[in-house]
Amino acid sequence: MRSSAMRDLMAITARPEVISLAGGLPDTSTFPAQSFAAQMTRIAQESAAEALQYGPTEGFEETKDCIGEVMAAEGMLPDPEDVIVTTGGQQAIDLVCKTLVDPGDVVVCEAPTYPGAVPVFCSYQADVVQIETDEQGMRIDLLEELLARLGREGRRPKFVYSVPSFQNPAGVTMSLERRLRLVELAARHEMLVVEDNPYGQLRYEGEPLPPLYQLDGGDFVIYLGTFSKILSPGIRLGWAVAPPPVMEKIVLGKQAADLCTSTLTQYFLREYFAEGRWRDYVADLVEIYRSRRDVMLAALREHFPAEATWTEPEGGLFIWATLPEYLDTSDLLAKALRADVAFVPGQGAYVDGRGVNSMRLNFSGVGEDEIREGIRRIGAVIEEQVQLYGAVTGELPLPGRSADAVEPGTDENVLPFRKSGEGSP
Ligand SMILES: Cc1ncc(COP(=O)(O)O)c(C=O)c1O
Repeated sequence: MRSSAMRDLMAITARPEVISLAGGLPDTSTFPAQSFAAQMTRIAQESAAEALQYGPTEGFEETKDCIGEVMAAEGMLPDPEDVIVTTGGQQAIDLVCKTLVDPGDVVVCEAPTYPGAVPVFCSYQADVVQIETDEQGMRIDLLEELLARLGREGRRPKFVYSVPSFQNPAGVTMSLERRLRLVELAARHEMLVVEDNPYGQLRYEGEPLPPLYQLDGGDFVIYLGTFSKILSPGIRLGWAVAPPPVMEKIVLGKQAADLCTSTLTQYFLREYFAEGRWRDYVADLVEIYRSRRDVMLAALREHFPAEATWTEPEGGLFIWATLPEYLDTSDLLAKALRADVAFVPGQGAYVDGRGVNSMRLNFSGVGEDEIREGIRRIGAVIEEQVQLYGAVTGELPLPGRSADAVEPGTDENVLPFRKSGEGSP
């Protein structure tokens, strides 16, 4: 078992004086409290006994209707029979692994990958292979090479896990061309793909892209969704969509894990969707997060050293920054915490110790002033370390930000970045 980089940090960053750019927290303060009170009161008055009771392992039909609405908004029409309601999207990842992974099985995922998935893969003793990511998402050419190599050894992956839209942690989005290639590859090799899509509706610019599930029609793609980022993570409601033979086993796994998902929060979801305003709320979140993303990008340009690079996400909640190779972001975090600011060190997104000089920065959980101040503080800690490195090695750090100072392609994780001041967010 491995600890999750993010969960460890949650305890430290709960201190009120800490500006946390570490969590993947949506801004729940934007949810109208009166509306919440009215919905919960209605449940208490009209269906207290049912809402306080156990429910079916697969989840209520009404919850599946809400899931159908959310998926339809991204062009997908799953059969409700193929859907199971889970205790958050995290449980969906766990149940898929519980169902499919035997010790030593190959699981392929992106490099970097969702830090919360790493402990799941490890706890089922998967042999995790991470495929490099660039500004178009997972490198499918490298996946093809891997499949060929595994084929020669008589092995094949149990599944490929991907967060194709506004990836956590890198913020990058898989291009349409790569989506099509991945789905075609899955069909050709009869290989499952697990598409994890918590952020698809949080797009701040550019045109929506079809989910893998839509492109494949649900033959080889298992789809995972969650209400955490479009409504609330506290209600712990997510889901999985899988073909019947896989779903049968997922249901057995869920029975063993927790019998059923919270009835109370499924009732809340039903009330909330009955109001018919969930899309408006998501649209409000998109406005708020777009602006916070832009504030963070501007602050990075102002406060991070010339050698640093970072992604410019079109949606989602995260920016991935890469620092000079001689910096270790885990060490940096200890210093940053002394300055009351936090981020997720990049190593948590890898199984093999890579990502040492990278960090994940979240821009959804705190307000714009705190983002500016948080990035300023991290920038100051980095600057101190850069100066120290210069003093110790005799190498002078770069004199302030300079567009020519950054060599494209030097990023060890081959993730996209723009030079200082280049392009607009
Ligand atoms: C890619 C991804 N998958 C799954 C989850 C789990 O979300 P939850 O369990 O809150 O639904 C997250 C949360 O940040 C995530 O980023």
